[in-house]
Amino acid sequence: MSTATSTTTTASAGLKVTPLQNAPFGAVVTLPVEQPDPAYLSDDDFKKLYDAVHENLVVVIPNQKDIAPESQYILTKRFDPTCEGAYGHSKEFRHEKSVLRRDGHSCPSQPQVQILGQGRQDGHLGIENLELRHPTHMSFHHTPLTDSQIADGNTRYYRWHIDSALYGLAPPVVTTLLGIDCPKSERQKILYEDSGEVLETAQAATAFASGANGFELLSDEDKEFALNTTVIYAPHPYIFISPTGATSDGLTIVSEGKELSLQELPEWELSKVKKLPLVWTNPVTGKQHLQVHGCCIWKLETPDGVQELEQARKTIHRLMRPNISPKHVYAHDWQEGDLVIFFNRGVWHSVTGQFGPDGHRLMHQCNIASGQDPVCVK
Ligand SMILES: [Fe+2]
Repeated sequence: MSTATSTTTTASAGLKVTPLQNAPFGAVVTLPVEQPDPAYLSDDDFKKLYDAVHENLVVVIPNQKDIAPESQYILTKRFDPTCEGAYGHSKEFRHEKSVLRRDGHSCPSQPQVQILGQGRQDGHLGIENLELRHPTHMSFHHTPLTDSQIADGNTRYYRWHIDSALYGLAPPVVTTLLGIDCPKSERQKILYEDSGEVLETAQAATAFASGANGFELLSDEDKEFALNTTVIYAPHPYIFISPTGATSDGLTIVSEGKELSLQELPEWELSKVKKLPLVWTNPVTGKQHLQVHGCCIWKLETPDGVQELEQARKTIHRLMRPNISPKHVYAHDWQEGDLVIFFNRGVWHSVTGQFGPDGHRLMHQCNIASGQDPVCVK
């Protein structure tokens, strides 16, 4: 028998976290009515948001279209007390040979915020002649889809990655991505050439895969291997791979010996070469996450010795591949005003899709190099 006591319930005005429906992970966060700018949440509410990002890996805060670049920067920085404030990539990402060189345009008032998207966006933030270019697999994969496959609505994962310079700087804790102009359009299909699987997504969805799930999918033997392996990233990795092409799933690079030689790279020093554990421990949940940028690796230090480039890529591809099967991927369908915060040290992500000649999109992205590298707590 129910006891209908007369408790008075007042509608909570606090920050609310709701897991995403029909998605393998992720959550929607609504902000307290009294504080619509997420940069200035109370300490208690920010702690809830911080935990939600670490627990759900991808958090969507709707209706943030007008958040200023300054607020986005303050919010991003708040997730990492150790960061000093520099953008997650060093200046080399604009190097003429870097595979990142055409990705985005720095926001004039807040250079750690990058303007991303597609098409002409003249006058945005006072910038004249702003022409944005959505990165597509056509410029990065070893063997892109044919024109007729693309005309049939097919696409690929561009590059599965973690946001990080992977040389000198420590990987950012979170990335924030704001959708400002995200027109609705046709759907696209991601083809898995090895298995025949297909993932249908919104055009140019951002795809995410959980590093914790990636670890959980490993055999016990591979877990042990991963926990005891260190990844060595190439010096200036995005320049190192500039003449190469990626595998059709965007996980790593096809090994053909085309990488720049160490002498052809801009000046580099051994002390800045990044050595990071293959498994990073989530500081909130304690879960282990398989975290690696498969395109930028150079070598693996494994319990059985050092694996050089080609073998290292094969190993990393084998470990990562199960976790990008459609059922494990959350592909975010952008709505205008979505502010997505993702735990960059616990999730992998990829651009997908391509736009037609009249396509347009506008986004702001921010991540900040950390003051400390991630660690694996065994
Ligand atoms: Fe990214």
